[in-house]
Amino acid sequence: MTEKNSSTSKKNLQKILITSALPYANGPLHFGHIAGAYLPADCCARYQRQKGNDVLYVCGSDEYGVAVALSAEIAGRTPQEHVDIFHEINRNFFKKLRISFDHYSRTTCESHKQPVYSYFNDLFENGFIEGHVTDQLFSEVDNRFLADRYVVGTCPKCKYENARGDECTKCGASYEAMDLIDPRSKLTNAPLIKKETKHWFIMLDKFKTKLTEWIESKNWKPNVVNFTKEYIKDLRPRAITRDAKWGLPVPLPDAEDKVLYVWFDAPIGYISASMEWAKIQGDDDKWKKYWCDPDTKLIQFIGKDNIPFHAVIFPAMTMGQNQPFKLVDELPANEFYNLEGKQFSKSEGWYIDLDDFFAKYTTDQIRYTIAANAPENQDSEFTWKDFQSRCNAELLGKYGNLVNRVLVFAEKNCEGKIPAKRELEDVDRNFLKVIHMLAKEIASSYETFKLRRASQLIMELAQEGNTYFNSKCPWKDAKMVDTFGRMETTVHCCLECLKILAITSYPIIPDTADQLWSFLGYNSDLSKVNWDEAIQSSLEGGRPLSKCHILFKKLEDEEIQIEIDKLYSMKSG
Ligand code: MF3
Ligand code: ZN
Repeated sequence: MTEKNSSTSKKNLQKILITSALPYANGPLHFGHIAGAYLPADCCARYQRQKGNDVLYVCGSDEYGVAVALSAEIAGRTPQEHVDIFHEINRNFFKKLRISFDHYSRTTCESHKQPVYSYFNDLFENGFIEGHVTDQLFSEVDNRFLADRYVVGTCPKCKYENARGDECTKCGASYEAMDLIDPRSKLTNAPLIKKETKHWFIMLDKFKTKLTEWIESKNWKPNVVNFTKEYIKDLRPRAITRDAKWGLPVPLPDAEDKVLYVWFDAPIGYISASMEWAKIQGDDDKWKKYWCDPDTKLIQFIGKDNIPFHAVIFPAMTMGQNQPFKLVDELPANEFYNLEGKQFSKSEGWYIDLDDFFAKYTTDQIRYTIAANAPENQDSEFTWKDFQSRCNAELLGKYGNLVNRVLVFAEKNCEGKIPAKRELEDVDRNFLKVIHMLAKEIASSYETFKLRRASQLIMELAQEGNTYFNSKCPWKDAKMVDTFGRMETTVHCCLECLKILAITSYPIIPDTADQLWSFLGYNSDLSKVNWDEAIQSSLEGGRPLSKCHILFKKLEDEEIQIEIDKLYSMKSG
């Protein structure tokens, strides 16, 4: 099979820069996060690499910010100790899920500072950052200003008494901590007073015209475009500094005891992660090939709560600085993915223990379940029953079944080799046409970030194979000399179907696809196989197949019931 750098695939080679929202190194990740920003991005990256495109896929831990400092303080650790722990935990979790980052960085790394300060200084000199004296909340007991999440109080909108400093968890209103009624310290409950202090603001209003024009050219999902347009209508200066110790210091003389707001530095993390990647590659400037070339396609995967930062604020910051950096081209923002009807929440006991999960189930079972029910156009959820039926009826019943019956049959009747294709009947020609059409449709689903559709089509492909195999009854043909060739043709066409199945399912279930690929007798791994070349090239008759084994095990009702019971008992406990 041909490798990805062959001459044909170079022709349409496109540079594709893919990012997943940088997760806070503040707590463990769960499947809800994976469904929004990581699995869809990984499938996209894998698919684009298979197509022979030049992909750079980066991410990293988001490590500064008031929320991180607060949870570290509550956990009795320094913020650095805290992020060190969760950076490792999350990195390992991504590994288990086979998220194929080219680089996973972190915002406390040394290489993050220079690009952040370069943004800040450019924006400042270009008149897009201004300092203003404002009232902020001050704790006289602690002798310090308290920012966002350190503050609780009564929601100005719904009057909920335990509202957070940045948004109300009850009514969803978002505001400044200063707007809270009766603000108190989250840590000591002490009342807070207003005190003057200087802060720096990014003058978002100055980007209104440019942003409005820019957004017009985007063909994003309607909810993303609508949200963004509404947001742009009412752009105001936004504070980008905080009275805090944990964060990058503000690079100005009169800004002691202040740090940059986490949402100022974090998105620049996409760039610094790429710089760090380039260094590791031994070519310090290699990142520019992606970030500074207008022909690169920048695709940013995020959850819907991150839309304003990626569709408005970071683009404005980029427009206002001096480097020729790419603005986002595609913004597939996903909705929320819940657990049995409610948001995942470790603190409320509403979650799935991941060590336990990976001990019992496979990465591909969860990847497939999430992909098949991805929150693309509305919120969706993980339920144990859905997981069971995806694993049993689809992965095992359709995909695994086809793989197993075809390969076991070929081993018995074709000496474990790919039989030659003899004369084709209409039914064979039709089958081959249909499976090649499905391959095209699956490609275009990946192209447009539609994982639900891709998953569905993959199962249709497997079902086509099952139906064809049944209808041709190769076990009958195998018994007679004059129909033996007909049987060989059937097996050949079924193996063609398995080949396409392996290639097209690889972005979603890479381990399984790789196994299937090896059953077919290939020793290259699928990440190095070119999609189009492999689909077009025909199977060589006579080439040996490898021994196959069972790909998926059946999930029994009792074991799923145990999982459901455990979930409900953790919640009440
Ligand atoms: N850490 C943020 C979140 O989990 C996402 C940051 S994305 C970046 O919501 F653009 F800032 F990197
Ligand atoms: Zn409220």
